[in-house]
Amino acid sequence: MRIGPYELTSLREDMPILTLAPMAGVGNWVFRLICARLGARLVGVEFINCRSIGTASRKSLQMLDFSDAQIYADTGISLLAAQIYGNDIDLIANGAREFERRGAQIVDINFGCSVPKIVAKGCGAAYLRDLDRLYAAVRSTVEAVSVPVIVKTRIGWDEDDINIIEVVARCADAGAKAVAIHARTVVQKYRGQADWSWIGRAVAATELPIIGNGDVLDLDDARRMVDETGCAAVMVGRAAMANPWIFSGRAGAPLRERIDLALEQLRLMAEYKGERVGVLETRKHLALYFKSLPKTSELRRRLLTTASLDELATLLAEWRHPETVEDADLTLSQSEAATLAWSGNG
Ligand SMILES: Cc1cc2nc3c(=O)[nH]c(=O)nc-3n(C[C@H](O)[C@H](O)[C@H](O)COP(=O)(O)O)c2cc1C
Repeated sequence: MRIGPYELTSLREDMPILTLAPMAGVGNWVFRLICARLGARLVGVEFINCRSIGTASRKSLQMLDFSDAQIYADTGISLLAAQIYGNDIDLIANGAREFERRGAQIVDINFGCSVPKIVAKGCGAAYLRDLDRLYAAVRSTVEAVSVPVIVKTRIGWDEDDINIIEVVARCADAGAKAVAIHARTVVQKYRGQADWSWIGRAVAATELPIIGNGDVLDLDDARRMVDETGCAAVMVGRAAMANPWIFSGRAGAPLRERIDLALEQLRLMAEYKGERVGVLETRKHLALYFKSLPKTSELRRRLLTTASLDELATLLAEWRHPETVEDADLTLSQSEAATLAWSGNG
């Protein structure tokens, strides 16, 4: 897949190009790096309001920390796509300029957020109801930056107003270099099933690379999405929160590896955001790593209720102990085991 000057390839021939979806509260510096290291070819950032970019609050400065992009540039393992949203086209363009100054390799405009509070202000998916405004936002952003601009959106407002084909055409005319499509309508939010057929129709109607998104739970789904739609890459959101190993082509990882990753993520987050915030923001996420494993409900319960970094590290280290691992009889599910064998644990 080509996005402006960048050529993206899949990690392995038998895998599609996988990307980490932009996710608020999830796509922080540490998790992005983890996913990139595991094989995500492009990592999304938590979306950033164009109005918060000029403020010097610690939170917004941290959200604007794209220093991991330099690591991706040095190693070539991934690309960082920083996402902006807002209702003021000039502020979006200015914000994009700031993203570029801070190292983002790609600017992503959010036209897909369906949260009522955001849509009511004319941000996110509200643009799907005014394609001239959508065009103007993409155009002025493309003119403001030298890095490629991409768009993330939904298939339309509701089932009677599915306009993704026109949206993609307007994005292409305005100079966007790719469009990521979450194959649900705005009204659907996260209900029902993503309708991938619209991804296929968009692919057929445009020269732009289309990144397919919605309900990809594992590698088989990702392959199926490419087979059924012809999309250039597959964007993974919720499934990656519990299983970032998906990016290396695996259905999961054995308990010890999950614990090692959890410990690393926790320590980095505490270092990065300070112990209190780092632990609070991470422990819920870490609990997801153990959800698919049997006999880990006690570990998850304690993860969710422990506030100190030291205690959490001790807890995880205890669970890593060979006897605990044996006692817990942590057999992988059949599909996990099959994928691990197939991917040579790599
Ligand atoms: C916790 C969470 C936060 C999200 N935040 C964003 C966001 O900031 N920007 C965006 O474009 N989409 C956001 N999304 C939507 C995802 O990028 C993705 O489109 C959606 O989850 C469907 O993909 P999935 O089925 O692989 O999860 C978010 C989704 C979740 C679950």
